[in-house]
Amino acid sequence: MGNQVRHLLSAADLSGEEISFLLDTASALKRKPQPLLKGKHLALLFEKPSLRTRVSFEIGIHHLGGTAMSLNANEVGLGEREAIRDVSRVLARYVDIVAVRTFGQAIVEEYAEFSSIPVINALTNEEHPCQALADILTLKEKWGDLRGRSIAFVGDGNNVAASLILTAASLGMDTRMAAPKGYGLPEWLVSEASARAASSGGKLTLVTDPRAAIRGAEAVYTDVWTSMGQEREAERRRIDFAGFQLNSDLMSGAALGAFVMHDLPAHRGEEITDEVIESPGSIIFDQAENRVWAQAAAVAFLLGVAHQVER
Ligand code: CP
Ligand code: NVA
Repeated sequence: MGNQVRHLLSAADLSGEEISFLLDTASALKRKPQPLLKGKHLALLFEKPSLRTRVSFEIGIHHLGGTAMSLNANEVGLGEREAIRDVSRVLARYVDIVAVRTFGQAIVEEYAEFSSIPVINALTNEEHPCQALADILTLKEKWGDLRGRSIAFVGDGNNVAASLILTAASLGMDTRMAAPKGYGLPEWLVSEASARAASSGGKLTLVTDPRAAIRGAEAVYTDVWTSMGQEREAERRRIDFAGFQLNSDLMSGAALGAFVMHDLPAHRGEEITDEVIESPGSIIFDQAENRVWAQAAAVAFLLGVAHQVER
């Protein structure tokens, strides 16, 4: 409410420079964890299931000397037992930063509007910025310089795709995406990502043919066709995403030795085959590991202590 607190609700909340700084911070913390968050407390308020996000936040904050607590969303009843604005203001009296996993982006926006402490989007229907930071950190570890490197996202224009495309386009990458007609990214995001690609020296290519997106790509990324909360559409989606399965045949069009990426959980045999998940180019578990460091860096950044990290 009119305060200057920084939140991370969308990948678009960070400039390209800030993303680069955050990635450097994450690498430094991974090399050498430092007790920057001593006496700081993180609350996790999750309204959807999670393995990676929850555990990696808790472990990441512990690595930096802080504490984390996970709240049972059913007990809290965000917007049901209690108004969002009241939950937000109460938690801000107890802890220093909060990560929220919920349904619509509007919920996390309303939560942040009333929060005097930083709020991190730990996944909404629309975005998953923590995932994108970990994904790009993983590529940075492999490649060093990201500029001009190509990444193709093949599948649903969902939360994971949205944050990934924004982040890659901000860093001068050759960013490609193929989604079936009707499953593309929202318009505002396409304009924002195009503007970011133009100013970072990157490229943004949006197509409906997965082969066209993958051609010569150095990293190929996919995610589930049916996200949490869309279970009733699963059958329809299996039909609409025909030809989008990341299998050896589709991967054969990518660059030699291309990396395979997935945020997990995967619906094995649906959007991606076992063979591709287990292939030598798969960096899927490195992505999962890097959630710890990308998020620790994001927490340090939002709490204004990232500049204290020894690099
Ligand atoms: N990738 C990811 O966010 O995993 P969880 O849903 O298990 O947290
Ligand atoms: N798109 C997936 C990502 C899970 C981490 C979902 O929202 O279910």
